[in-house]
Amino acid sequence: MKILKTKDYLDMSRTAANIVSAQVILHGKSVLGLATGDTPKGMYKQLAEWNKRGDLDFSQINTVNLDEYIGLSRDHEQSYYRFMYDNLFSHINIQINNTSLPNGLAEDVEKECQNYEANINKLGGVDLQVLGLGHNGHIGFNEPDTVFKKNTHKVELSESTLNANSRFFNNINEMPKSAISMGMGTIMRAKKILLMCSGKEKAEILYKSLFGDIDPMIPASILQLHMDVTVVADMDALSVIKENGFLN
Ligand code: GLP
Repeated sequence: MKILKTKDYLDMSRTAANIVSAQVILHGKSVLGLATGDTPKGMYKQLAEWNKRGDLDFSQINTVNLDEYIGLSRDHEQSYYRFMYDNLFSHINIQINNTSLPNGLAEDVEKECQNYEANINKLGGVDLQVLGLGHNGHIGFNEPDTVFKKNTHKVELSESTLNANSRFFNNINEMPKSAISMGMGTIMRAKKILLMCSGKEKAEILYKSLFGDIDPMIPASILQLHMDVTVVADMDALSVIKENGFLN
């Protein structure tokens, strides 16, 4: 595992954007696994700028997203589809048919999960998976659990996640209580993983995820077993790792 230290959110965003760019430039036909949340927003902004300047071409890129809320339509302002459209897809020359997120309105959720997983496999798997880190160590919407769930599945959101993400809704009751998420197997089969993390409030969970036991109660800890993980984090997020002597 490589840990890249960055000064602050902006520096983290630019560094992560450089890694995604390298993938796009070196392997034009890549499948990118994408994440939502505040963490990757700055990176998407940077990628959109480089695309606008003509330095990056997304025309051959396929994307698959980690997750989507159950019960929100694509155009709901808090759906992850809308997030991706507003923050990235509408600003770059990607073919919208080459982007994919779980359908939060699917009548048969089980079938939607199977189809989503099958689609990822049909694309040949994810080449570079971007991840943020939840406050409880979740990745995608893989919540702390007694087991690591393997494939795309329905998740009941934990209290920690409901509290953290309710900031985007008028009140917590408006927030969906379940979601569809790629599983840990889906994520771990990605050829490369880019974990982004920013801010002091993530420092403890980042430390536990990267240097603690591999424990399904800290879902991101399974990343310690992946052969090609790059962590791009700012100094605030790395502060506990540094205090514990794992970083110069
Ligand atoms: C959400 C998403 C995750 C994301 C996490 C952290 O729950 N499902 O994919 O990584 O929150 O979000 P943020 O980057 O806003 O802290």
